[in-house]
Amino acid sequence: MKECIERVLLSEKELHDKVAELGRKISEDYRGKNLLMVSVLKGSVVFMADLMRAIDIPCEIDFMAVSSYGSGTKNSGVVEIKKDLAREIEGCDVLVVEDILDSGITLSYLMKILQARNPASIRICTLLDKPARRKAKEVMATYSGFEVPDAFVVGYGLDYDEKFRNLPYIGILKPEVYENK
Ligand code: IMP
Ligand code: MG
Repeated sequence: MKECIERVLLSEKELHDKVAELGRKISEDYRGKNLLMVSVLKGSVVFMADLMRAIDIPCEIDFMAVSSYGSGTKNSGVVEIKKDLAREIEGCDVLVVEDILDSGITLSYLMKILQARNPASIRICTLLDKPARRKAKEVMATYSGFEVPDAFVVGYGLDYDEKFRNLPYIGILKPEVYENK
């Protein structure tokens, strides 16, 4: 895997420190509330698993799967629910946990669906934000780990063609990996 990585963008230590900081903030903000963390599969699972352990107030978790990319590196604009939540969210303080906010199309669609289910509140926590590529300008993350440049990144849950999710750091993929496909 390492030979496909151009350079490490965020080290394990940087990720760990940021997740701890986000966990502290979320714990303060949601004290006394009805926190339900919703992880968007599959990219956010690693972040979710670390973030939930950095939160020291009671919370529940659930998972949703949507697809917008196929197996490539560009957003097709077509979003489909592949797996829905196991429970209703009325009255819950929902925190949607995402790996990366890129065009924003996926989250824009997801937020509309979830808002229609009458949660007490709904916010976004994204590990990475790629503002240069935003198309859905109305999508805002209350909690955001790092701004990243306009390059395709993998690792710590993020994939290219379902691979590289198990890298413990976040790296920039060598363009020839997807150009030669
Ligand atoms: P959006 O709808 O364009 O905001 O795309 C969101 C989803 O696209 C993320 O949840 C990721 O799964 C995927 N994605 C966007 N940019 C990258 C990247 O640089 N590396 C890996 N996955 C990405
Ligand atoms: Mg994803």
